[in-house]
Amino acid sequence: MKNLITILLLAGTSLWADMDQGKKVYASSCAICHTVNGGSALGPDLNIVSYTRKKEDLAAYIKEPYNHYERFGYSANAMPALPLEDKEIEDVVDYIDSLQPFKKWMKK
Ligand code: HEC
Repeated sequence: MKNLITILLLAGTSLWADMDQGKKVYASSCAICHTVNGGSALGPDLNIVSYTRKKEDLAAYIKEPYNHYERFGYSANAMPALPLEDKEIEDVVDYIDSLQPFKKWMKK
């Protein structure tokens, strides 16, 4: 039992560490165009995006916005493909995904 708790604690800390990383990626690469809790910017608020999108869609959009904007309902693509490492994309996706614990697709 004690081991299990240790494992859970370790897993928890590393998850938070990555969330911190994701927040950093957001601050340095996304905040110029995306807010997180309201306000106006060029791109949509990521808190709302977190409510509507699945993780794999977030990652796909961040990697290749020009390949996905129509599927996402936009008539034009203003978001550039950013020079991010795969790990940075993973981290920022985890961060965005954490903004909303309940998602649109969870509703019946
Ligand atoms: C230069 C401005 C700009 C930057 C920088 C930028 N975005 Fe965007 N983003 C946009 C715009 C504008 C849209 C709306 C669609 C489009 O024009 O491509 C968008 C759309 C998106 C979407 C799709 C939203 C939906 O409808 O579900 C996601 C996800 C996203 N951005 C995430 C990010 C993340 C994460 C970063 C940082 C790693 C980032 N963006 C950086 C401007 C930007």
